[in-house]
Amino acid sequence: MPYRVTLLPSGHEFPVAEHESVLDAALRERGSVLPYGCRNGTCGSCMATVQSGELAYPDGRPPGLSEREQIEGKALLCQAQPRSNLLIEVREVKTGGDLIVKTLPCRVEQRELLAPDVMRLFLKLPNTERLQFLAGQYVDILLADGRRRSFSLANPPHADALLELHIRHAPGGFFTDYVFNRMKDKALLRFQGPLGTFFLREDSPRPILLIGGGSGFAPLKGMLEHAFHIGLDRPLRLYWGARAKLELYLDELPRHWVEEHENFRYTPVLSEPCPEDHWSGRTGWVHEAVAADYPDLSGYDVYMSGPPPMIAAAKPAFAARRLPAAQLFCDPFEFAPR
Ligand code: FES
Repeated sequence: MPYRVTLLPSGHEFPVAEHESVLDAALRERGSVLPYGCRNGTCGSCMATVQSGELAYPDGRPPGLSEREQIEGKALLCQAQPRSNLLIEVREVKTGGDLIVKTLPCRVEQRELLAPDVMRLFLKLPNTERLQFLAGQYVDILLADGRRRSFSLANPPHADALLELHIRHAPGGFFTDYVFNRMKDKALLRFQGPLGTFFLREDSPRPILLIGGGSGFAPLKGMLEHAFHIGLDRPLRLYWGARAKLELYLDELPRHWVEEHENFRYTPVLSEPCPEDHWSGRTGWVHEAVAADYPDLSGYDVYMSGPPPMIAAAKPAFAARRLPAAQLFCDPFEFAPR
C-alpha cells in the first residue's frame, strides 16, 4: 500500500493502493465510514475537500464534479485514486441518522428458495444508484396501496451491487404470498431505506455476541461479513436458533466462517429438532443457551434479531446476567410493518 490518507477532522488514517479509489479503501477500514451514493462518479455524495496531496481520475474528471469544484480542491472519493499521501477534509458518517434515506426503484435480479418458507431476493438498483447503509440496517418495501413491509439487508455495505433480503413466508401475508406464489423474474419493486439503528458499533472494544432467531439471521449475516471485511479482531460469537434443522437455512455459511476466522465461533440451537435431523447439537431456546454459556454478560456487546417473543424473553434473562441496557441492540423481526 504506497499511500496513506488522513481524514480531517477525525484524524482517521488508512492506506490506499495506487489503483484503488479512496472510497474503496475506506470501506475496508473500521471506524471510517465515508458518505457515498452512486459509487460511479455521478451523484456527488462522496465529495470532499483535498487539503494536501495529489490524486488522479484515470477515466477523466467524473460527471459529478464540475471544473470549478475541481479547481476549488473538491474531489469525488469514489473515483479519486491517490498519487501521493492525502489529507482530506470530509464529513464522516457516525450513525445511521447521518445517511441519506432514499426512495428507489429496484428489479428482482434473482430469487432463491433457501428453505420451504424462506426466499432470498437479490435486488438490483438503477445503474446510477447505490444504497449506502450500515451493516444490519433495513429497508421498507413500498407496496402499491401505501403499505410497507420491512426487511433487513443481509449483504454487507461493501458488497452493494445487489441488495440481499431473506423473506420468511407468512401464510396469508399480502407481500410474502406475492413473493412466494406470484412474483415473476425481474419483478419491479420500490423501497425506502436505509432505516433503523440496528447496526454494528465498531468503536467498542468489547467482544460481540450475535443472537438470531429464524430469518433474524439476515442482518447478523451482513454485520459478520462486514466485520470480516474490515478485519475486526474482537471475538465474534453467533448463536442461531430455529425449530428444526431445515430452518437454519444457511447453516453451512457460519460453519465455513469458523474455518476461515479464528475470532469467530458458531452455535446453532434447535428447539424442536425432527427425528430426521439426527441432531446432536444444542437444544432448547437460543437465549437460554446464551444465558447458560455466559453467566456474566457485563463485558459484552449483544446484538439480537428475531421474533419479538424471543427478544422479550431474552432481555430480562440477560439483564439478570448483568448485561447493561446500553450494550444490548435489538431488531424485533416482525412479519408485519415495524
Ligand atoms: S459521485 Fe456518487 S458516490 Fe461518488
